[in-house]
Amino acid sequence: MHASFFTARLVVLAAIASVVAGQALPAGCDRNITVQAGDTCDGISAAYNVSTYQLAAVNSGIIDTACDNLYIGENICLGITGQDCSVTHLMQTGDTCYSVANAAGISINTLLANNPNVNTICTNTYPGEVLCTASQIYVNITYSK
Ligand SMILES: *[C@@H]1O[C@H](CO)[C@@H](O)[C@H](O)[C@H]1NC(C)=O
Ligand SMILES: *[C@@H]1O[C@H](CO)[C@@H](O)[C@H](O)[C@H]1NC(C)=O
Ligand SMILES: *[C@@H]1O[C@H](CO)[C@@H](O)[C@H](O)[C@H]1NC(C)=O
Repeated sequence: MHASFFTARLVVLAAIASVVAGQALPAGCDRNITVQAGDTCDGISAAYNVSTYQLAAVNSGIIDTACDNLYIGENICLGITGQDCSVTHLMQTGDTCYSVANAAGISINTLLANNPNVNTICTNTYPGEVLCTASQIYVNITYSK
């Protein structure tokens, strides 16, 4: 009796603690970090090898589309197990989808599949953006397109 009452109290306290600490990470979170002063979404993507698309997709509903609501101490997920691309390229001035795919040894179709935020003629990438350049497809096509 006492033991189960005590366990129940601990569960409640743990639940409150995780809410206070803001650790409501999505199920199956593979990698997480705590936001530091000065962090930006693309800065986090570049530092941790997470594509710009993946960081936004994993945190949709948490980080807004302009990425202006990050806060210091916030715990964010970088990838979901099984859908976590960590082979990435940081876009530089002059990079094209063709040069990036070629350097990574992957097809344009694979690059586009893993980066659904890039348009099919690849005219909307920008320096500082992070693309997934893995040869494996991580993005569920039915979900993203
Ligand atoms: C967050 O990452 C840390 C290590 O960086 C890990 O110890 C912790 O279990 C992770 N939390 C969740 C909920 O995945
Ligand atoms: C990101 O990828 C680069 C290139 O593969 C690697 O050198 C670096 O250690 C990786 N960084 C992290 C945080 O995994
Ligand atoms: C990926 O596709 C499968 C099969 O269509 C579906 O069951 C699953 O829910 C999708 N996953 C996501 C994350 O949308």
